[in-house]
Amino acid sequence: MTQQSRAQSDVFVPTGQLQFGVFFQGVNSGTIWKAAESGSQTDFESFRRIVQTAERGLFAAFFLGEGLRLREHLGRPHALDVVGRPDAQTMLAALASVTTNIGLVATQNTTYNDPADLAHRLSSLDLISRGRAAWNIVTTDNAWTGANFRRGGYLDHADRYRHAEAFVETAKRIWDSWETAEGPARNVLHEGQHYTVDVTPRLPRSAQYRPVLFQAGDSPEGRDFAARQADVIFSAHPKFDAAVEFRKDLVARSLNAGRGANAVQIMPASEFILAPTADEAAAKKEWVRSLQIGPQQAVAYLEQFWGRELSEYDPDGPLPEIDPVVEETSETRGSGFHGAKARQLADQWRAEAKDKGLSIRQFVTSRTARMDATFTGSYSAVADQLAEYARVGAVDGFNISPWLIPSGLDDIVNHLVPELQERGVYPTEYRGSTLRDNLGLETPVRTADEAAEAVRAL
Ligand SMILES: Cc1cc2nc3c(=O)[nH]c(=O)nc-3n(C[C@H](O)[C@H](O)[C@H](O)COP(=O)(O)O)c2cc1C
Repeated sequence: MTQQSRAQSDVFVPTGQLQFGVFFQGVNSGTIWKAAESGSQTDFESFRRIVQTAERGLFAAFFLGEGLRLREHLGRPHALDVVGRPDAQTMLAALASVTTNIGLVATQNTTYNDPADLAHRLSSLDLISRGRAAWNIVTTDNAWTGANFRRGGYLDHADRYRHAEAFVETAKRIWDSWETAEGPARNVLHEGQHYTVDVTPRLPRSAQYRPVLFQAGDSPEGRDFAARQADVIFSAHPKFDAAVEFRKDLVARSLNAGRGANAVQIMPASEFILAPTADEAAAKKEWVRSLQIGPQQAVAYLEQFWGRELSEYDPDGPLPEIDPVVEETSETRGSGFHGAKARQLADQWRAEAKDKGLSIRQFVTSRTARMDATFTGSYSAVADQLAEYARVGAVDGFNISPWLIPSGLDDIVNHLVPELQERGVYPTEYRGSTLRDNLGLETPVRTADEAAEAVRAL
């Protein structure tokens, strides 16, 4: 099946191939930078090494998340967060100069940016990188980010997606306003419910026409939005059965949106802990977990749910008898649950920990392990597992957060990639020079009039 007939088909057809991206959160904790040779997350040199390793492993994309404000807890930055890295687009523009093929994906939210400005900045990255830029569209779901902006507050969930739709269509209209690749470009005058723009694009089309669109957001509204707008969805479902379910769901939503069954690719967030043998990988995982959930992290994790300081509690002792402060726990302030549910869950957790004889640290370790998205095993066993994902088309690839830099990525590039290539499920060279080429995506075909019509409806 050709790329074009696949794109138009209303039947899902697996490509039998996988592609990798490497993902760094904007503001994060974990073990990523903890090795002596990791370097600093604010140093260009650390990222140069990482992106060049990923490119050596023929990764499709280098992906930066975005966090515009640290989570706070009881008036101070949350103990689980570390200060983030330099701004994504600045870093990616610098990385464009030391790479030739890898895609450069900037996470940018639609809630606190403006469409004409962001469209111009993304066009700049696309031109500087000769057609390798992508925008990971997020709506950002928290009030503590809103407090950092002049307009304050934040939009409720449904409103965020209505804004996002108008935002993306406005940006696309700006990119699509060229009559031909050389021009002229039309003026875009749009007065919609959400945005007003009066702009003529200042930059021509890039080598890949316009930036590739990724989307990350998992609610039904988020998935429908991705089905209408995205080229690739950054999903949260790496486990096999969940990935297959997610594919079915997304295919149905894409068809419903009037696009083909193969129109949207899927790359779930994932981690890999690999070694020559299964036993060595399991031991490595134990070690990584012990680094991730140290005494301070264990107590800070519970504080998110208790809404109060718990530093006087022994991480190796039982869960706190004291109750959560209900009015301080809110998911918009970085907590996993809020309101009356807090007390109920605290009771449940205390009972579970007591029953199993678990300390705070052991309980937090076991709880976070349940949400674990890690593939752990020998290089060959994990390659077999991934080949099955490729065979059934559960995903198009994986967006990988290395657990430790540089060895977590070196393991993948030096050992997993060759195993996958042997199984015929991973590229042996870059297909082309643009991100769109390397992902096998169609070039959008839309006239300036069609683009104007799409945004007028919003
Ligand atoms: C895999 C994944 C990665 C995300 N990365 C970011 C990010 O880097 N920055 C951000 O502000 N939001 C990020 N989000 C959150 C989304 O912006 C969105 O606000 C959130 O998922 C709530 O929308 P939903 O209810 O549709 O899932 C991410 C979401 C997912 C599922």
